[in-house]
Amino acid sequence: MATFFGHCLIVERDMFFLDRLKTEIAAKDSPLIITQTFKDALNALKKPQNCIKVVLVSQSFGMAEIAPFMAQVKQLAGGIPWILSVHQPRFLLSAEELAKQGFAAQLEKPEDVASILKLLKKIFPERHSWQGIEASEEEKNETLDLKDQDFMPIATDDFLLTDKCFFNVFVRLAPNKFIKILNAGDAFDSDFAEKYSDKKISSLWVPKLEHHQYTHLSEKNAASGIQRHSPDTARRIAHLGDNVAQALGRVGISEDNLLYADRFLGHSIDFLRQQRMQGNSYAALLKELCDAEHPAAVAVIAGLLASQLGFESTKAIKVVGLAALLHDIGIYHERPDFPAEDPLTLTGADVELYQRHAQEGAEILRKMELFDEVVIQAVAQHHEKHSKQAGHGTNLVGEIVSASDLFVHKVLQSKKPNVEHFLNKQLKDYRPQIEVAFRAILKKKTARQAV
Ligand SMILES: [Fe+2]
Ligand SMILES: [Fe+2]
Repeated sequence: MATFFGHCLIVERDMFFLDRLKTEIAAKDSPLIITQTFKDALNALKKPQNCIKVVLVSQSFGMAEIAPFMAQVKQLAGGIPWILSVHQPRFLLSAEELAKQGFAAQLEKPEDVASILKLLKKIFPERHSWQGIEASEEEKNETLDLKDQDFMPIATDDFLLTDKCFFNVFVRLAPNKFIKILNAGDAFDSDFAEKYSDKKISSLWVPKLEHHQYTHLSEKNAASGIQRHSPDTARRIAHLGDNVAQALGRVGISEDNLLYADRFLGHSIDFLRQQRMQGNSYAALLKELCDAEHPAAVAVIAGLLASQLGFESTKAIKVVGLAALLHDIGIYHERPDFPAEDPLTLTGADVELYQRHAQEGAEILRKMELFDEVVIQAVAQHHEKHSKQAGHGTNLVGEIVSASDLFVHKVLQSKKPNVEHFLNKQLKDYRPQIEVAFRAILKKKTARQAV
């Protein structure tokens, strides 16, 4: 579902319509949760991980039954919007009557999932339009005292160049010292990126409040790359992953950041499938991931590994990807600029943070009541010694995340990559399918050979 992150709860008893919906949603990842009784609907609403954003209730229950259910839900979920599903057009309500009964909209003669999604799109219009971004008041080319915490970095080489710049762009001179180089609305020079790269300025900074719009732009860019089979799609996806990882680390786990995380995972899964169907190797993507933000690289590798291991539905692969994207959240939550994760290079307080980050990350996620237990467990276990021995309590998702993390550290982003050692020695701690899957992935070309 393109426009909102969460689920639509459906309470329906029209058997013909139910059959249709169930067949459709069985085939793919769906934002719909279907129930046939008010009791089941209430149970679904009580699970925070379902993240229900709207309820669609069938008129076939009759208002005498619907009204008390709405009152119960109001206590549980407050001002959640309601839609009435009307199968018989002669029973459509007037706008006045609809509002009086507490409905935001009615859905006339729903036929399939598409008819529901169309209405949801209307109710939840695309967020983050360009409105509201205009030149901010700071002067250009002057040293400014601004707070680091109000800005987000974007790699200079990756900065998305459009006809005119949609953002207010700054260079960070020193902690809390910036200089503004572009106003929103300014045109880019043709050599914009090179000019700053040549000056060894590796990051450009945009105000945090504008970063969502930047991520939004980078998401559209990734989506259009996939649609058009553009040769630089891998780069576009890695770039989106970088933005999402930065935002999760620096801003935190907000609804917007999860929305973009979900889209990033969706695009990377689509791209991996596209590559597989066309018989291409994953070399282009692995190459891009060599310089990507650590969580973004681990998320893509984990998705690749999961599909190689037979995870088929987009939803299941996204669960793995989300766990991978969040696996080090215990570190970034406290220290967005954590230097490196190699325990041998850490000193002082970083060692202590490193030692507790897996458990702490799991605790952060648990408290939010938004994530599947399997995601939380995977985060908790991502540095545990895995073993194929019976009785060891690690789950498969945890092992996938852990092995992907190791691959990114020891091969993909290592200064001295050693694929053979990784495959022959380090993967021996994991269940054997993981090694088989990695061998299959790397058969065409290993990541570093591809660089
Ligand atoms: Fe970690
Ligand atoms: Fe990690």
